[in-house]
Amino acid sequence: MHWSTLFIAALAAPVLSHSHGHNHKHRRRACSGAKPTVATYAAAAVETVQTAPVVEAVHSASPATEAVQSSAPVVEYVQTTPVVETVQSASPVVEDVKAAPVVEAVQKAEEVTQVTGTIIPAVSETTQSAAPAVQTPGRATWLWQSNLIQDSAQVDDFLSFADSNDIMTVYALIDRGMGNEVFYDFVARCNASGIVVEALMGNSQWILGQGEPTFQSQLDWLEQYQGSADASSKFAGIHIDVEPWGLDGWTSNKETYVASFQSIITQLKSLGSSLGLPVAADLPYWADKIICPDTGKGLDVWALENLDTATFMTYRNTAEELLEVATAVLEAGNAAGKPVWLAVETVAAAEAYLISYVGKSSANLFTDLTTIKTTAAKYTSFAGIAIHDYDGVKALSS
Ligand SMILES: *[C@@H]1O[C@H](CO)[C@@H](O)[C@H](O)[C@H]1NC(C)=O
Repeated sequence: MHWSTLFIAALAAPVLSHSHGHNHKHRRRACSGAKPTVATYAAAAVETVQTAPVVEAVHSASPATEAVQSSAPVVEYVQTTPVVETVQSASPVVEDVKAAPVVEAVQKAEEVTQVTGTIIPAVSETTQSAAPAVQTPGRATWLWQSNLIQDSAQVDDFLSFADSNDIMTVYALIDRGMGNEVFYDFVARCNASGIVVEALMGNSQWILGQGEPTFQSQLDWLEQYQGSADASSKFAGIHIDVEPWGLDGWTSNKETYVASFQSIITQLKSLGSSLGLPVAADLPYWADKIICPDTGKGLDVWALENLDTATFMTYRNTAEELLEVATAVLEAGNAAGKPVWLAVETVAAAEAYLISYVGKSSANLFTDLTTIKTTAAKYTSFAGIAIHDYDGVKALSS
């Protein structure tokens, strides 16, 4: 796609909000009384924008300057020197990645100038020991409806599904209403099956200082849980989904909301450091267009500097289109020396025809995941692909 087309698209493309997506239902059920976290995924592709009839909750397009910056036709390959201190906490980084000695930057579009670079592994040897044993590139899934863990038969199903589909990491919604015991049991069962469990939390209302359970109460619960759980029942990481870009007031309050998002991440990172847990957040693939008021840089850069890893919602429903939106994300990960996860959507959502595998078969999805992995693995930053979400992928026809 020519850069000028991208430019026009960026000007024209509203950010589509999933304000009535499926996951609100799940989150409400799983997280009693919580206002749903709004998931906003995709600035639509050009073709889509031109034909999109009515966009609900239209958020204004990125300013022209941002669009220009993000759609430069020539990709400059940034060679990064490993920065050990930024990755010293237990980042879920991987052995396999190190095995790739020389990698060619992928030429994916005709306008992109091919460049070749030798990639130095982003993470030093010394940080490897702190990392959980995660197979990389791995597969992960969100478990928003974590109330299923109260039912042993459903846990059996989950473990068997994960095993059959190479899912090695689960982001499980924490819910203090269910108590510690049920989580002890679930995490231990996952652990015995070689599945890493990250503590998932999220509510966009936290950006406004609202939302129940409160952000602070989630931090408190997690802290007491980690303090009381046996080794095999401890969470291996913290995963947050807070999406200010999905809030109604986003367009007119970007600076405040971004600052609030940064504050939440900073608090979470502080807890993560004290508990020895890596911290990850969900980000839109276009986070580079969200400018941080304090640094003037893209939120992707800030987030990768301040988190151990990030999961980018690169939601598209073909391998080719997904890789197209994932390229900048993988490059940002390489530049920051941090592992990044790509993600696929499988549930019914706004713009599903563009972004979700809902209505397609799981065979189609998993074939695409293999294709995506093969290409994305050329980037040292590629940590794996996360599937949104467990209920969605399970509901696909075979
Ligand atoms: C299982 O728990 C042990 C003890 O904490 C830990 O060393 C190991 O990495 C865990 N395995 C997984 C897959 O989380």
